[in-house]
Amino acid sequence: MKNQMWSGRFSGVSDELLKEFNASLNIDKELFKQDIKGSIAHASMLKHCGILNQNELDAILKGLKQVKSEIQNGDFVFNIDDEDIHMAVEKRLSEIIGKEIGGKLHTARSRNDQVATDFKLFVKESLLELELLLKELILTLIAHAKEHKKSIMPSFTHLQHAQPISFSFWILSYAFMFKRDILRLRNSLELADECPLGSCACAGTSYKTDRALSANLLGFKKPMQNAMDGVSDRDFALDLLYDIAVIFTHTSRLCEELILFSSSEFNFIAISDSFSTGSSIMPQKKNPDVCELIRGKTGRVYGNLIALLTTMKALPLAYNKDMQEDKEGVFDSVKTAKKSLIILNAMLKEMQVKKENLLKACQNGHLLATDLADYLVREKNIPFREAHFIVGKVVAYAENKGIDISEIENLTEIDNVFDKEAMKILDFEHSLNSKQSEGSSSISSIEKQIENLEDFLKAK
Ligand code: ARG
Repeated sequence: MKNQMWSGRFSGVSDELLKEFNASLNIDKELFKQDIKGSIAHASMLKHCGILNQNELDAILKGLKQVKSEIQNGDFVFNIDDEDIHMAVEKRLSEIIGKEIGGKLHTARSRNDQVATDFKLFVKESLLELELLLKELILTLIAHAKEHKKSIMPSFTHLQHAQPISFSFWILSYAFMFKRDILRLRNSLELADECPLGSCACAGTSYKTDRALSANLLGFKKPMQNAMDGVSDRDFALDLLYDIAVIFTHTSRLCEELILFSSSEFNFIAISDSFSTGSSIMPQKKNPDVCELIRGKTGRVYGNLIALLTTMKALPLAYNKDMQEDKEGVFDSVKTAKKSLIILNAMLKEMQVKKENLLKACQNGHLLATDLADYLVREKNIPFREAHFIVGKVVAYAENKGIDISEIENLTEIDNVFDKEAMKILDFEHSLNSKQSEGSSSISSIEKQIENLEDFLKAK
């Protein structure tokens, strides 16, 4: 019995185990829209080149439209005997319009270029969707930044108190990471803008096709230049997986900080009840599960990248069935990224910032020590190394008294190089605004940073 579209040369029936193992339909049915879109472009190109006539094209387009609505309405019967979405759609098309015409759709095409095209269309759409979600996220971060230009908090290096900054400055650092993520997605989109369709099995076709036309109909800039590369390339999927991995590097760092900052030890922020969970045993608990899950999902998306890199490594050209393994991880990473970005944004919108606690935390850890040393260099012409040593004495004095250097009442008592003016340095807001370098934590710099981000969001 011949039970497959490709079974012309086979005399035996496929083993049930093989059928199940070989089929990708359960995964790649996700690509039905792209598959039908690709077929519409292909058929239109065939008609343009005189390979199909108008009647045939009309029948194919009508049939494909019906297949699409059957799938969308849930009326389509997916059967793994059809192996994958490409054959499932084509078989149903032939049932609807008859094999005579339906059978012509696959002229000058192979599943190898078909799957590469469908998958690339999906990847391109995902790149654009992720860009929109990142833009939304940046808007939320900007809203917090605008509100907290003067909410002074400690910065950390080695997770130890470092220098005073504002909450605004802290949150903007993430906005710039997400801006870079958008630029990275755009780079990937640019590279993915060449269409594999028409590469056929691996060597092109003897029909006189117009690949630029089908590429154009599908929204690609141009066709891929080498048919063998056309069917073998999965760089576009790797690029997307890497882009998502980097996004998660950023979200995992943000989530980690939100977890720390919402703990009772820090108590800098409150995550709203609607995005927190309780404990089944400890009635007092309010857990930052959303942040923990996003941090945890980073492992999955890194794994998906490594998995596809490994699948593609040392794979001989052109198409090999190994490449059927390319989709599941990509679908998973895209879904995971979309869901995570949406919930992270919603959670951040409701986040409360505890301004007083931020300031209180500044009074611990001698955050102004560097400012004092810079003052000695600037105003007293003392070499920085010596200034560093003098301020070290100030810190030791404060430690001895069990106070922070911001609480010292008379600096001259410690070293007579200090005069009254020096006392002005021991002020957190003064510290913030004394920063002059581009990209610093001063309010005027923060305003420029917000402007930079807003211009970026407006531009495209
Ligand atoms: N289901 C296959 C995949 O996802 C489609 C391409 C099959 N090509 C082939 N020559 N068997 O990769």
